[in-house]
Amino acid sequence: MVSREVKHFDQSLHTLLDDMYDTMIAKKGVGLAAIQVGVDLRVLIINIPDENGKQLRENTLEIINPIFVSQEGCTKFQEGCLSVPGVYEEVQRFQNVEINYQDRNGNISKITDDDFLAIAIQHEIDHLDGKVFIEKLSILKRKKFEKEWKKRQKTQ
Ligand code: CO
Repeated sequence: MVSREVKHFDQSLHTLLDDMYDTMIAKKGVGLAAIQVGVDLRVLIINIPDENGKQLRENTLEIINPIFVSQEGCTKFQEGCLSVPGVYEEVQRFQNVEINYQDRNGNISKITDDDFLAIAIQHEIDHLDGKVFIEKLSILKRKKFEKEWKKRQKTQ
């Protein structure tokens, strides 16, 4: 499912963002898309721990209606996802991305990054487009993953 554009930058959006922060922290994640809490809006948050390993609320990037302005280069990164807990796989990504987006009040902003933030942005925007990172794996790796996943579902 592809998430819908946010049109109203109102209290319900702010409540959603605040709830998403609490969920992300509770699940020990560095990013979360609204669809992961059952809301199909183009909303995502990212909070990369600071040098003390803390993820302060005020350091949370709140990214609404993101659009890629540029995507360049190529890198690989070992990714995990709160939607498939405990699974980490190497995924191919762009090295350098630039996005335009809106903040919780609708103000337009932009981010350029070529490090971990760039990876996180691409991972979370995939969620908004209805994709999960395991879909990016090679067929062979994906089959292996699906096997392991089924096995795990049975033992739970
Ligand atoms: Co994810």
